[in-house]
Amino acid sequence: MKKTSLKPFNSFGVDAYAKKFVSVNSEKQILDFLDLNKSEKLLILGAGTNILFRNNIQYPVIKIDIKGIEIINEDDKEVLISVGAGENWNELVWWCIDNDFGGIENLVSIPGNVGSAPIQNIGAYGKEIKDVLESCRGVFVENSSIKIFNNDDCNFSYRSSVFKEDLKNKFIITNVTLRLSKIHHKINTEYSSLKQFLKENHINKPTLKNIAESVSKIRSKKLPDYKKTGNAGSFFKNPTIGKSKLKEIGLSFPDLVSYNIGKSKYKISAGWLIEKCDFKKKEEKNVSVYKNQALVIINLGKAKGIDIYNYSQKIKESVRKKFDILLEEEVNII
Ligand code: EPU
Repeated sequence: MKKTSLKPFNSFGVDAYAKKFVSVNSEKQILDFLDLNKSEKLLILGAGTNILFRNNIQYPVIKIDIKGIEIINEDDKEVLISVGAGENWNELVWWCIDNDFGGIENLVSIPGNVGSAPIQNIGAYGKEIKDVLESCRGVFVENSSIKIFNNDDCNFSYRSSVFKEDLKNKFIITNVTLRLSKIHHKINTEYSSLKQFLKENHINKPTLKNIAESVSKIRSKKLPDYKKTGNAGSFFKNPTIGKSKLKEIGLSFPDLVSYNIGKSKYKISAGWLIEKCDFKKKEEKNVSVYKNQALVIINLGKAKGIDIYNYSQKIKESVRKKFDILLEEEVNII
């Protein structure tokens, strides 16, 4: 089998090669693939929008392209939809809005496929997929057995789940079921920039469509389109710190952005920390951060995966030195 360039399959636009690359569009094809590649290390790939290839991949890559959106149950109030892991997330959001199904409108414009969404518990503008996820179906790599994980089994947390921790590369999600509202939609306008946008545009009683359109506009100002400029969204997670650390930083930097998340813990903006380390002015080997959001590392053209990685580690080191805070990667580094 000839090696395949992964450039079209990663949003950083990095030109790494896979020794072996297979795209599958059914659970049956996954089982056949596992049969042929027993006990080999695997890379399971979705849309490649949250991954950084540092080097070529010397083991098989399996890209999950299972399609299909199906209503599997509904009553007057709610609907259960089952979606193939290879469906595009943003297209699913708009399909839901067209059908007046509520629950994922705040998650509009997030790049990536449906099957990857639970892995990192995608979240934006006040919502996370865990709020509407009913279950995930998939296949264990080790023995090809099939399992359905209910919401409680997924161990969801901020940008993580059992699929990103214990089951990393061990379980292939093939299908995701969501529970969405048909009436009395719980419109969430709490995120400050969304609230402000709605106010400025005199939208007092937003519909699902208003929310999706507003979030979409806010995002397009802050986040570069990876089809034009290679990136993988937020590169790091927002760190959590305690009260004394918050006070200490606040003394030197009164403009510190923080959110109380309970129990005297505060989430602070990683983008803000990176900006304070002057990375908006640092460009190296075709890599920089995005001018409107320092949390997003961008490929200015022909950057290599390893150059993007080295730049990210410099950011980490600077933030550690200046603030004594260790940033944790959100992007999957391979
Ligand atoms: N900020 C700066 N400088 C920067 C970037 C941000 O000062 O360069 C400050 C600003 O004050 C801004 C605040 O940080 O108001 C928060 O910024 P933003 O609303 O863009 O949110 P974020 O915390 O940086 C998170 C998610 C994003 C998500 C937005 C909106 C993480 C790691 N990132 O970013 O998710 O779209 O909130 O909900 O939690 C992603 O995961 O790839 C992603 C883009």
